Amino acid sequence: MQVLSREDALAHVRSGDRVYLHGGAATPHPLLDALVARAPALHDVEVVHMHTDGPAPHLAPAMEGHFRHNALFIGPNARQAVQEGRADYTPVFLSDIPALFAPGAALPLDIALIHVTPPDADGNCSLGVSVDCALAAAKDARLVIAQVNRLMPRTHGHAVPADWIDISVEIDSPLPESPASETTPEADAIGGHVAALIEDGATLQMGIGAVPNAVLAALGGHRDLGVHTEMFTDGLLPLVKSGVVTGARKRLHPGVIISAFTVGSQAIFDFVNDNPGVELRPVDYTNNVDVIAANNNMVAVNAALSIDLTGQVVSDSIGPRLYSGIGGQVDFIRGAARSEGGVPIIALPSTARGGSISRICAEIAAGSGVVTTRGDVHWVVTEYGARNLHGRTIRERAGMLIEIAHPKWRASLEEAAGQLGYLGGRCP
Ligand code: COA
Repeated sequence: MQVLSREDALAHVRSGDRVYLHGGAATPHPLLDALVARAPALHDVEVVHMHTDGPAPHLAPAMEGHFRHNALFIGPNARQAVQEGRADYTPVFLSDIPALFAPGAALPLDIALIHVTPPDADGNCSLGVSVDCALAAAKDARLVIAQVNRLMPRTHGHAVPADWIDISVEIDSPLPESPASETTPEADAIGGHVAALIEDGATLQMGIGAVPNAVLAALGGHRDLGVHTEMFTDGLLPLVKSGVVTGARKRLHPGVIISAFTVGSQAIFDFVNDNPGVELRPVDYTNNVDVIAANNNMVAVNAALSIDLTGQVVSDSIGPRLYSGIGGQVDFIRGAARSEGGVPIIALPSTARGGSISRICAEIAAGSGVVTTRGDVHWVVTEYGARNLHGRTIRERAGMLIEIAHPKWRASLEEAAGQLGYLGGRCP
């Protein structure tokens, strides 16, 4: 491992390279800034990553032609660039991303910019708060450049041998923190309905957004919950501290929280630091459907932007406007469906845009991408209740979803469902 300044390290990036950027709270900002400083000398550098926390200077309009981001999940700081056509989006199951980086696969990497702890006594570095796809990037990239940071938490469950790292840049910098999604009365009501579907001893996956956080807040009366997820945030900490989350009844990794990454405040970074009760693992493990299904009573709670009356779930786009990503939604919905006693849940407020739009639609908006298919969907929860669509006809589904739509749209949904033949009439 060669120790260089950030400027000398980033001088190794060449025009046309594909560069992986470590994501989430592990985004190596000093390396990213040094890369952006080289923009005048570079063109057509593809920067591949999931969501990153903190500023994203490589996505500024002035970077067009120098860098082009390929989003494997569109984070808030990348949304505008994608929607303006200055960045690309690759829809992909989170579990499949590591394999994309292998030589000969769709996205072989020239450079990986990663963020690690200093090596331990055995010569291993920790990828800290974000193992997810970073382990594969570190293994497969032609050149690995690492920010080595004494403030990065050392997490259990994985190891990057220091000899995988070609160039290290020693910079101690605090991790970017991200605020928790604010709750709403609708999210709180959804949290209550979802909590009623969760048995003591269940193992939880919580997706991204306000709704999963509200579900966590509603679980204070449960016992012996476990966690097998791809991400977790501060919302989990009160449940661990109060003894609700023990993992005691987990069939797989009893007593241990399994995740791929964590984002949030310094409190969560401190919690995972050298904590053998938390293992962060790559997403081709955490999100592998067979691994998820090996958990008993696996409850997967994922949010959505809209759903049609047949049960097609839209989560990564609003019409043709690309919004987020597939992430682990399908991995976990399918894994929970196959788990003994599993409960796959799509949870969404009944309305959007301040109550002006029904998220339960007769038909999905033109251009929307279906993330969870109507074959995969099981429980759907809004603030008006919970319904299980699995094994139900289109006619039954339409009726069930109208029951949990916002009351002001139930009549128009009923009329549209009738016109579409969903209520037993002739198809148009
Ligand atoms: N039509 C128009 N606008 C819509 C809409 C719709 N059908 N649905 C949502 N919106 C708007 C909302 O009003 C909101 O805008 P506002 O803040 O201006 O009001 C915005 O779009 C975001 O919607 P919201 O539901 O608040 O987003 P969220 O932060 O709760 O995240 C998902 C929800 C679906 C985007 C998020 O869970 C996701 O990306 N899921 C896919 C991946 C996944 O589930 N992974 C699982 C594990 S991480």
